[in-house]
Amino acid sequence: MKHRYLGNSGLAVSRVCLGTMTFGNQSWGCDESESKQIVDAYLDAGGNFIDTADLYAQTESEVILGKALEGKNRDDLVIASKGWFPMNESPNALGLSRKHMIEACEASLKRMKLDYLDLYQIHGPDPYTPIEETMGALNDLVSSGKVRYTGCSNLYGWQIVKANEAARNLGMDPFISGQYLYNLIRRDIETEILPACVDQGMGVLCWSPLASGLLTGKYRGAEIPDPGTRFQEMSEILNDRFIWQEALELVDLVCEIGEELGQSPVTVALSWLLKDHAVTSAIAGARSVEQLEPSLVSGEWDLPDEHYQRLTDKLPQKHGYPCDWMRIALVPNFSKTEYEPGRAQRFPPLA
Ligand SMILES: NC(=O)c1ccc[n+]([C@@H]2O[C@H](COP(=O)([O-])OP(=O)(O)OC[C@H]3O[C@@H](n4cnc5c(N)ncnc54)[C@H](OP(=O)(O)O)[C@@H]3O)[C@@H](O)[C@H]2O)c1
Repeated sequence: MKHRYLGNSGLAVSRVCLGTMTFGNQSWGCDESESKQIVDAYLDAGGNFIDTADLYAQTESEVILGKALEGKNRDDLVIASKGWFPMNESPNALGLSRKHMIEACEASLKRMKLDYLDLYQIHGPDPYTPIEETMGALNDLVSSGKVRYTGCSNLYGWQIVKANEAARNLGMDPFISGQYLYNLIRRDIETEILPACVDQGMGVLCWSPLASGLLTGKYRGAEIPDPGTRFQEMSEILNDRFIWQEALELVDLVCEIGEELGQSPVTVALSWLLKDHAVTSAIAGARSVEQLEPSLVSGEWDLPDEHYQRLTDKLPQKHGYPCDWMRIALVPNFSKTEYEPGRAQRFPPLA
């Protein structure tokens, strides 16, 4: 399995991270025994990076992951978790307050029976807590040895920059990663968030890299997904998020390219994400070892340039304003000197 440094940090992580949202989920996930086999298969393939959250399966995912890690060489692994979602009805059991951040992190450590987390991520933004309070609490978690690095998830671009400014003012290290919905169908982050992460020296970790299973190609022509699948159990959210005519045509192309290259559509979809080095890792979700296998291949296998371009061009992105203004006003005026990638800021594709 190939590794990349996570953002500008010195932390080397596998380019396929193991997601654990399925662990212990009784509706569309897997039980403890299968979860442990998934962890073993991932580690056997050379992976070192595992992502969880207190939310997953109402904390059961962390409990199962902790058991799966027993007897493993913990220091060789990079374990990430997240806090932010409500843990009970109390008004303080959610969000990014100092109180909740410290409690949530300590509870995650206790559930997994770990002394420290390598990466602790805020799972979303808190509209009420000052970001200085949150970053101060994260800094204390780092200083006390409970956390090595911090990251964020699901923040707007401006919130990322604001949080990192607060961190720098406190004399602490800024976020090293952002965890975002990113796949061949949902490329929204290319407009603002991905450029913000590049600017801030943060790695990007992609969640739902297979569009919750759609990019496997298994729903082509099928009207009703099987019971127990994510698309059956969460159809209200997922149909809106991932299904429209052009997206289904894109899935056809992923399958066609998979056939041409002798690879699974799963491998093709994850490898498309990893072609851009602004992305550090794709977070693979699976509810069986069999499902995980083609994701692991993309930890090693690189998509050829030509196929990358065909996939990139298939679903044209509408970045809207100000990108359309940039195309007219910025590109002609700033193309008089030779383009210097190391110096120029990253903009969404403007061509
Ligand atoms: N930060 C956040 O807000 C956030 C949000 C969501 C997820 N995450 C993280 O990202 C990870 C991955 O997200 P995700 O689970 O949504 O990823 P995904 O890769 O888009 O979807 C995974 C699902 O696709 C199906 N699948 C995967 N491989 C398959 C194969 N080879 N054949 C057939 N079906 C296959 C399975 O669902 P079925 O069998 O049910 O079809 C599996 O549970 C999570 O575990 C979690 O760690 C983070």
